[in-house]
Amino acid sequence: MCGIFGVTGDSRTTELLIKGLKRMEYRGYDSSGICLVNGKRLIRKRAVGPLSNLEPLVEDLPNSECGIAHTRWATHGAPTKENAHPHFSKDSKIAVVHNGIIENEVELRKKIKLLDDGIAFESETDSELIAHLLLIEFENSEIDIKNAKEEEILSCWKLVLDKLEGSFALAVVINGRNDFILFARKFAPLIISHDGERGILASDVSCVVGLTEEVFYLNEGDWGILTNSEVQIFNVDGEFVEAEAKKLEWKLGEAELGGYPTFMLKEIYEQPRVVRDCLRGRLSRDKIKGFSIPFNPRLLRIVGCGTAYNAGLLARYYIEQLSKIPVILDHAHEFRYGAPSGPKSLVIGISQSGETADTLAAIEAAQERGYPTLGIVNVESSTIARNVDSLLGIRAGPEIGVASTKAFTGQVLGGLLVAMKLGQLSKTFHREDLSYFDRHARMLPTSMERMLNDQNIKTKLWEAQQYFIDKNHAFFLGRNTSYPIALEGALKLKEISYIHAEGYAGGELKHGPLALVEEGTPIIVIASEGSSHKKLLGNAREVAARGAKVIFITHQEDDLADSHADLVIKVPRTHDLLQPLLYNIICQLLSLNIAEERGCNVDRPRNLAKSVTVE
Ligand code: F6R
Repeated sequence: MCGIFGVTGDSRTTELLIKGLKRMEYRGYDSSGICLVNGKRLIRKRAVGPLSNLEPLVEDLPNSECGIAHTRWATHGAPTKENAHPHFSKDSKIAVVHNGIIENEVELRKKIKLLDDGIAFESETDSELIAHLLLIEFENSEIDIKNAKEEEILSCWKLVLDKLEGSFALAVVINGRNDFILFARKFAPLIISHDGERGILASDVSCVVGLTEEVFYLNEGDWGILTNSEVQIFNVDGEFVEAEAKKLEWKLGEAELGGYPTFMLKEIYEQPRVVRDCLRGRLSRDKIKGFSIPFNPRLLRIVGCGTAYNAGLLARYYIEQLSKIPVILDHAHEFRYGAPSGPKSLVIGISQSGETADTLAAIEAAQERGYPTLGIVNVESSTIARNVDSLLGIRAGPEIGVASTKAFTGQVLGGLLVAMKLGQLSKTFHREDLSYFDRHARMLPTSMERMLNDQNIKTKLWEAQQYFIDKNHAFFLGRNTSYPIALEGALKLKEISYIHAEGYAGGELKHGPLALVEEGTPIIVIASEGSSHKKLLGNAREVAARGAKVIFITHQEDDLADSHADLVIKVPRTHDLLQPLLYNIICQLLSLNIAEERGCNVDRPRNLAKSVTVE
């Protein structure tokens, strides 16, 4: 998604803006640009494509103490230089960068034309109109921008914000004013930092790691001015907000490659640590602790998108199995526009970033209906984490690779902790069950490490990869708790290797997908527990009979799979409830190897962005 970065009060503005843009690269973008406030004019440079296309353009720019920058992920208009941010007002007096969508764009464009028909729109974006609107407000108020007082500037800024519908994170600079940046946020993330001399604003906390130690997290509707000496924040009603700076939750090294060739590989290998951190202080032999469930529900609703949704599906199996409380799982975008009926229920929102627009809106919709909310979130300073009634942080650390890996493990563990806690409350999950689970959970990180370094598994993965050469379709099959892994495995493969992959519950095979199986189709079957495992073996036979190449992922104590597959990958045996996490790591590694073999950039897959902050 789009990224915003701004600096005021530092003579190294260009260098810092480029640094900020580099930190945002992982989010995905198709063009970028910067604008510096320089004595007599605003200097703007924009380029389509990677940041390396922008860098040569900014090399010899004059010094400036104030500027804004943007990475764009096209929503309104193609990725062209004209559509790249920053956008100018008439006469290049004002520059704006925007993340979000202005929903009343058409109406506002008409209004602008009526007010000043000399305005020619240069781009197809909805963002440009914000610069025009602000200039019109300045002209209407008859203030001289170059000498205007902060109060005058702020009142014009507020008038503009009141006209905007939709979502936005905004930063604005004005010609001749190298002493401030105007900002605002509504349903799109924006953070501010100030050390008394230099102010920074950014749409992503990972951009400011290493540049500052404390940040102000803005609330929905907050807006204000970042000057060289301070930050002034106002709420949606125009009241001054006494904001408190919070310590950054991450350290610089955590968001760097640390010797790994890709973030995806690094993050896959971090999973043993994620398990340790996520369970620390929350799991013991007789108690689940360290977080609260805000309501004793008779029904649960879980919402999330993509990988987080898949983790939610596994959480649903766990909660229903351990607590016997029914769960309805929804894609967050479906939930937000639905009208859930039935008893008051606990709504669990799962999100790595905590900024996914649909998940955030689903949580808000739940709260409007009076439902208590619980967040299973990685970024604990994020909007969802701050908005929910109760938070279970998964402690995965910064996830930079666009394809979610380690966060899935943390999200599943979060769901499992909730399931066990609810099971204890419902008296359906007993002390001895927990003590047995605890024993296995303590050994899980070591099993993961063993598995990640196992030469035999590496060889098997290489062999499995050969089945995908020249293939454009693949299927992942699972049942019960391995069904969510089949969905997640297919999602990972398609998003980073561009091979079309579908995850199915084994029982669904004969109801349609079997028609697509042909000689050589790679099918990954993920073992499940209990009686459904035998059913999966039957599914493996069915697809093999049609010429498919079957890769079975199972555990070391399973001897049945050997005679049902072309290739069997065996992982260490652990508790039934934890076993899917080991299978999932195999799927992650397989997808990564296949994608790299095909020459794909696994950290930045095409068309995708890390944190989907627009609907
Ligand atoms: C897939 C992936 C996405 C995210 C989804 C939700 O690898 O990363 O499907 O899982 O966009 O994002 P969060 O968890 O940040 O809400």
